[in-house]
Amino acid sequence: MKENAKVAVLGAGQMGSGIGQVFATAGYSVKIYDLGKQIFEKSRNRIRASLEKLESKCLVCEKISNIENRISYYAKMEKLQDCDIFLESVFEDFSIKTSIFCELANILTESSRVATNTSSYSVASLASCVPWPEKFIGFHFMNPPPVMELLEVIRGPRTSDETFDFFWQLAKKLKKTPIISKDSPGFVLNRILIPMINEAVSALQENVSSAEQIDAALTLGAHHPLGPLALGDLIGLDTVLAILKTLQNNLDGSKYAPCPLLEDYVARGFLGKKTKRGFYEYE
Ligand code: CAA
Repeated sequence: MKENAKVAVLGAGQMGSGIGQVFATAGYSVKIYDLGKQIFEKSRNRIRASLEKLESKCLVCEKISNIENRISYYAKMEKLQDCDIFLESVFEDFSIKTSIFCELANILTESSRVATNTSSYSVASLASCVPWPEKFIGFHFMNPPPVMELLEVIRGPRTSDETFDFFWQLAKKLKKTPIISKDSPGFVLNRILIPMINEAVSALQENVSSAEQIDAALTLGAHHPLGPLALGDLIGLDTVLAILKTLQNNLDGSKYAPCPLLEDYVARGFLGKKTKRGFYEYE
């Protein structure tokens, strides 16, 4: 791999933007791909706000504008053709992810390295969409990517040792701590975290306590930085529901069944911070 490897991030949402920021901060030239101008504007603002927060704590080592200048935005996939590393981070929907990979397959070469930031889907089934599955891996960032240290690395059945070593070292270059997970639904973190959020929603539904007090139970009683309902709002309740459904369909149907109140919030479009309303309201 070239010293000045170019990175393509597919998806400019909260995860894709954060991942692009992490790569650009580490010195990579980053191309972010999504539908168009409005999304790009939101992504730029998100990255600027995050970099300013980090700068105020002296956690960035160079001028913010230098980092921003390494990020460019594209709505045409062929513009990503000169990239070396491709990181998919679109919405957690299997058909959207597979259609992105099928389109991406047209511009990949034998030397391209490809990763998915899926939160729960099988890396094996996503790898089957690309022409060189030995160069494909799961590379799962946590939200918010610029802040959270963990990176889950998940091998597909055909991922080569060389690809695994490359991404393992890449995680360290990005100043993250990688852990290995089997290609199992939800991997490690989401298998544990998402049922906890679902349980908190059940407690709310059964009037065990208010949203604020359920969250206080976990922040004050277990030292979690954020209560489970506020965390669900941060992740996005549609994403929480999508991950639960993957766990339910592939592990234990009753153990991981989504709480009806969660389904109701998603159906009403109360998706958390991104829609300014979830279990809490946001400015
Ligand atoms: N960029 C840069 N800095 C940020 C930031 C961002 N996007 N968001 C927050 N911060 C920083 C703030 O500057 C602040 O730093 P200090 O602690 O040094 O002061 C700190 O983070 C706290 O920020 P805020 O006061 O604004 O908000 P907060 O106290 O609610 O913290 C949080 C935000 C960092 C997200 C914290 O609540 C936290 O760690 N929560 C847990 C997050 C978590 O569990 N993430 C994993 C979700 S699961 C997942 O992502 C997997 C998946 O597939 C769904």
